[in-house]
Amino acid sequence: MKCRRMLSGIAFGGYCCALALIVLPGSAVAGAPLTNEPITPVPAPLDASDARAQLGDRLFHDPRLSADNSVSCATCHVLALGGADGRPVSYGLGGAKGDINSPTVFNSALNLAQFWDGRAPSLEDQVDEPLHSPVEMATTWEQVLGKLRADEGLVAQFAQAYPDGLTAANVRDAIATFERTLNTTGSPFDRYLLGDEQALTPAARRGYLLFKNFGCASCHQGAAVGGNMYQQMGALGDYFADRGAITKADLGRYNVTGAEQDRYVFKVPSLRLATLTAPYFHDGSVATLDEAIDVMARYQLGRSIPPEQRRDIIAFLESLVGTHPRLTRLNR
Ligand code: HEC
Ligand code: HEC
Repeated sequence: MKCRRMLSGIAFGGYCCALALIVLPGSAVAGAPLTNEPITPVPAPLDASDARAQLGDRLFHDPRLSADNSVSCATCHVLALGGADGRPVSYGLGGAKGDINSPTVFNSALNLAQFWDGRAPSLEDQVDEPLHSPVEMATTWEQVLGKLRADEGLVAQFAQAYPDGLTAANVRDAIATFERTLNTTGSPFDRYLLGDEQALTPAARRGYLLFKNFGCASCHQGAAVGGNMYQQMGALGDYFADRGAITKADLGRYNVTGAEQDRYVFKVPSLRLATLTAPYFHDGSVATLDEAIDVMARYQLGRSIPPEQRRDIIAFLESLVGTHPRLTRLNR
């Protein structure tokens, strides 16, 4: 408290509080960064002025990466709106219907692996799949490189950024580099973690305590509030039996490992932009966060959560949304 009062009107709060920490080690100083929390601030993104990131930005928005030049990565990952597409499942080339919900690309660099089932170990490896998928871009590297190599401006840009110029590996690298610029930082919740007690509304604070006390944070944790482990959908209730019509995509990580214990196991999704990326779950089956929290309570925790507590948890989830120059919609 002393520190906060001392600081009123002084712009460099963090500096003073860091000093206070040194003077009073271990004591609860208001304004000191919180430690031992299950969630950590989103790290700073890669610098967007990086030449490779700029190439990746261009390619991310380039429909020549699809067979008929109609679909780009940004078709299903709309940055301004939150980096997903707002549909239960995605639609690709010629309106072909996909089998799973599109996650956001924001903060994807924080994931332990890519896709709901983690089948791509890196952002670089991830790129081939939409490119080849018949329900996404439905093309081949040969076709794509043929089109891109006819573009003199692009070839020159690649020659400047990469010693070996325009290759498939460098297209993958450029796109992955761009994705590493997509961290959303400075959220109210991160400011709270860094010691700004005023950053959270009372509802968001209550919501965070509920999130920890109910055990949500045992799965949704780390900088992305998810993305760092695999867990079964339906840990304490048979979600799939209740929903019915089981598809291959529902098998989750079983499709990658073939191990029985991986049936219905998914990468725990990041909740950083959850308020912007409805509908929810790998099957896009749930339209609102309120219902998603209800489903989580029932199937992951074997309990129910009353509506007013769900509202507080939503206020907490709203506080997780950081900023990025490309993200223009900040809340629902
Ligand atoms: C037709 C829609 C569509 C297109 C086009 C598309 N994506 Fe996706 N993207 C998806 C869907 C759906 C998933 C989830 C697939 C899965 O997990 O099986 C996904 C997953 C991802 C992920 C993993 C995110 C995570 O949290 O696991 C990244 C990264 C990504 N896409 C980037 C890209 C890039 C880069 C391109 C362009 C080369 C691209 N996408 C093109 C729909 C699309
Ligand atoms: C046992 C681990 C576990 C616990 C506990 C857990 N979750 Fe989840 N959560 C998951 C998994 C796995 C998914 C993905 C499920 C799917 O898509 O089928 C998920 C998905 C979600 C989603 C949807 C995100 C999206 O983008 O689609 C929300 C929101 C969510 N959880 C919130 C919560 C809240 C709030 C709590 C506590 C009340 C909670 N979770 C508890 C593992 C867990």
